[in-house]
Amino acid sequence: MMITLSSVLTPGQVQKVTHLASGLTWHDGTHTAGAAARQVKRNEQADLSGATGTFIKKLLQEAVETHPVLRAAAQPRRFSPLMISRASNGGGYGRHIDNAFMGSGDRRLRTDLSFTLFLSDPSAYEGGELAVETAAGEHLAKPEAGDLVLYPSTTLHEVRPVTAGERIVCVGWIESAVRDAAAREILFDLENLRATLAQQHTAQSPEMLTLSKTISNLLRLWGDA
Ligand code: NI
Repeated sequence: MMITLSSVLTPGQVQKVTHLASGLTWHDGTHTAGAAARQVKRNEQADLSGATGTFIKKLLQEAVETHPVLRAAAQPRRFSPLMISRASNGGGYGRHIDNAFMGSGDRRLRTDLSFTLFLSDPSAYEGGELAVETAAGEHLAKPEAGDLVLYPSTTLHEVRPVTAGERIVCVGWIESAVRDAAAREILFDLENLRATLAQQHTAQSPEMLTLSKTISNLLRLWGDA
């Protein structure tokens, strides 16, 4: 399942982040890629270790990690540290698979879901589509600035070359409490149903109680604490 979440950042937040990011130090992105992916990665990554970087990271983390639809779709257990990448002059990221595990020690996580939060207006660059291969064919994404694309880390994907302008995105990974993608999709459907029913029923109605019981018990069956 690949979904686009609209306006995860407000236009004001997008403007603030891109303005501040332009003042950061940028490094060659190949340092943070696995051995095979390094061959096809042609972008730059922002150094987020300083005060400005920390501020940006906090703002983005807050927006992503608290988003209710992202939480319902991903059932997150852990989030990776965020990265900010930029590509221009034919840069991109060729077809690759993300590493199955990232980080070390307490921060080590299994990558179940990948996300790209678009920071550049689509009219500001040519090319640069995120292309994700699924059983149903290739899905291309080039949404509005502030939108987030969530997709399974199990897929081959690429960032098409940016042939004009500049593409800035924030990327990250999620370890889900529900490892099985099919189980996650069923839970997402039920969460959406709960949100719809909540408009017509109180939380104490028999319908809502039964649905909440079902969601909780499926999480017990399928989830890791
Ligand atoms: Ni990737």
